[in-house]
Amino acid sequence: MRTFEVRNRHFDRLFNTPNLMWFGQNTNHFRTHPAVRRAMLDSIDAEEFHAYAPPAGLEELRTLILQDLGLADAAVLVTDGAVEALYNVCRTLSEPGSQFVTTDPGWKWPMQFAMASGATVTEIPIYGAENGYRLSAAQLKAAVTDKTRIIYLVDPNNPLGVCYTPAEIRAFTDIARKVGAYFLHDATYRHFADEHTLAARFYPERSITIYSFSKWLGLAGLRIGALVAQPDLVERLAVAPPNNLGCNVISQRAAIAGLKVKQEWLPDINRRQRRNQAEIHKAVAKVSGLKIAVYPSQANFLVVECIEAGVTPEALCEAFRGEGIMIRQGSYHTPRFGHRFVKIATTVPEAWTDALCAKLPAMVGKARGIKNPGALF
Ligand SMILES: Cc1ncc(COP(=O)(O)O)c(C=O)c1O
Repeated sequence: MRTFEVRNRHFDRLFNTPNLMWFGQNTNHFRTHPAVRRAMLDSIDAEEFHAYAPPAGLEELRTLILQDLGLADAAVLVTDGAVEALYNVCRTLSEPGSQFVTTDPGWKWPMQFAMASGATVTEIPIYGAENGYRLSAAQLKAAVTDKTRIIYLVDPNNPLGVCYTPAEIRAFTDIARKVGAYFLHDATYRHFADEHTLAARFYPERSITIYSFSKWLGLAGLRIGALVAQPDLVERLAVAPPNNLGCNVISQRAAIAGLKVKQEWLPDINRRQRRNQAEIHKAVAKVSGLKIAVYPSQANFLVVECIEAGVTPEALCEAFRGEGIMIRQGSYHTPRFGHRFVKIATTVPEAWTDALCAKLPAMVGKARGIKNPGALF
């Protein structure tokens, strides 16, 4: 069977597993705010979905996204999730001979998009306690050349959960400016950070901010996000986007409602997900050989190192799968470091986290006996 079929069946099986506890994709499984649910139901009742939405997004949503980011002079293109925004940027701005620079680990799909347009990819290794699991300006400076077209920074980083300071972001954007590169700032997880600095503050002319509603608002299955950049650049990206017929109208109504209740919703979500982080931290400390790489995480997940416990990430995932719990193997993010860790999301009901924590010691034991876990993606 072809790989894409195997992968699809894997996710279809997960999706159709009743009561599966999703810890594997950083999605948000807290109950939706009533105003967001109401907005979707009202949209369905009004049968708005017969029409295409405006191509760059509902004006109200575009305005609210800009307000949320605090970027006054930028333009917004609403997209089918952050991933469509990334696809458009990477495919449009990369070309044969251009270089795409990013971190390892990071999020792999934009690399694929840039390579599909002929770019060569440079991944800068950042996994390791010795450098605080973060990119340094010196590393970035050494990696870029006058061929660098895109510097792609996932910040907070998926999977590590580190978030960069204003001084670091300023240094990175200074490097980008020197070589004339676009700074693709993937801020999908910014709402979980104690403090987040937009590259667009320092380098408005060539920064592109990637925005998602999947994680903070819990709309992953509704596919809604955006890209934000200076108007001339958005004009270029709006010429031949993957979807020029407007994004899902129900999703846009949900996103508008979410931004309107964000002040009330987000602090509670963060209190709850940090509580889950703390519980996982305690449970991990009790199992010999397990360790959390970055704590607290500035995103809604934790990297749990399992290499010294003598279990492979794949075996641990397989052990948990048998209990109706999905966690993610590190190799999804990085072939180089993926054998060291699993990733566990924290925007889930407390009862799920408590169940995972209670089972953790037994699952490590069970994983030691699993020699051939099936294919994971
Ligand atoms: C770093 C990063 N960017 C983008 C996405 C995709 O976000 P969306 O669901 O908005 O397409 C993900 C999803 O996990 C991600 O981790």
